[in-house]
Amino acid sequence: MDNQPKLYLIAAMSENHVIGKENHLPWHLPDEWKHFKKVTNGKPFLMGRKSYDAPDALHSTYRNVILTEHPETYPNPETQFATDLHTAMALLREENEVFVLGGASVFVQTLPLAEKLFLTIVHAEVEGDAYFPEFDLKDWDLISSEFHGIDEDHKHAFSMNLYVRKKPEI
Ligand SMILES: NC(=O)c1ccc[n+]([C@@H]2O[C@H](COP(=O)([O-])OP(=O)(O)OC[C@H]3O[C@@H](n4cnc5c(N)ncnc54)[C@H](OP(=O)(O)O)[C@@H]3O)[C@@H](O)[C@H]2O)c1
Repeated sequence: MDNQPKLYLIAAMSENHVIGKENHLPWHLPDEWKHFKKVTNGKPFLMGRKSYDAPDALHSTYRNVILTEHPETYPNPETQFATDLHTAMALLREENEVFVLGGASVFVQTLPLAEKLFLTIVHAEVEGDAYFPEFDLKDWDLISSEFHGIDEDHKHAFSMNLYVRKKPEI
């Protein structure tokens, strides 16, 4: 492929890497959600079909490319579908930056290609059935981290971290 957009993964995970339970977010953190919306505002999204269908899903107001093996079941003309990652990246090749919104299966496939991780760490051990993939912090520079404490609207504290992949040493 000629032009490749930069891929930015955006996710919130617990200390034990949980990102979801029964196709829902396993927490309610309104200020984290605001941060999520602010960072991704107006950007193209790439995501898996289950995350797209989740009741608490965030959809791009600009462009959504959804990975699914069953695109014919979706009548929404404003959203594009791709039956594999290569096709999705070809659809998005004119974009400069694409946010990957998950879920677990799509994070696994795209983490090796990602340049940035907008990764919120929810400071709790949480039960779930969807996980952010393991990754080696040594491969990433922590550029910024904003801590949010517990309050009446936020049952868990969390840190909104931005990691950038280290450049390979020559
Ligand atoms: N905390 C967070 O930041 C965050 C963010 C997003 C999602 N989540 C959570 O993550 C969970 C969902 O993750 P998940 O892994 O179960 O589902 P997912 O990755 O959202 O979607 C999986 C589906 O995407 C399609 N797909 C994925 N890769 C594909 C490929 N290479 N080619 C064609 N189709 C492909 C398939 O759809 P078809 O079955 O239609 O073929 C597959 O069943 C939910 O619990 C959600 O709440 C959490």
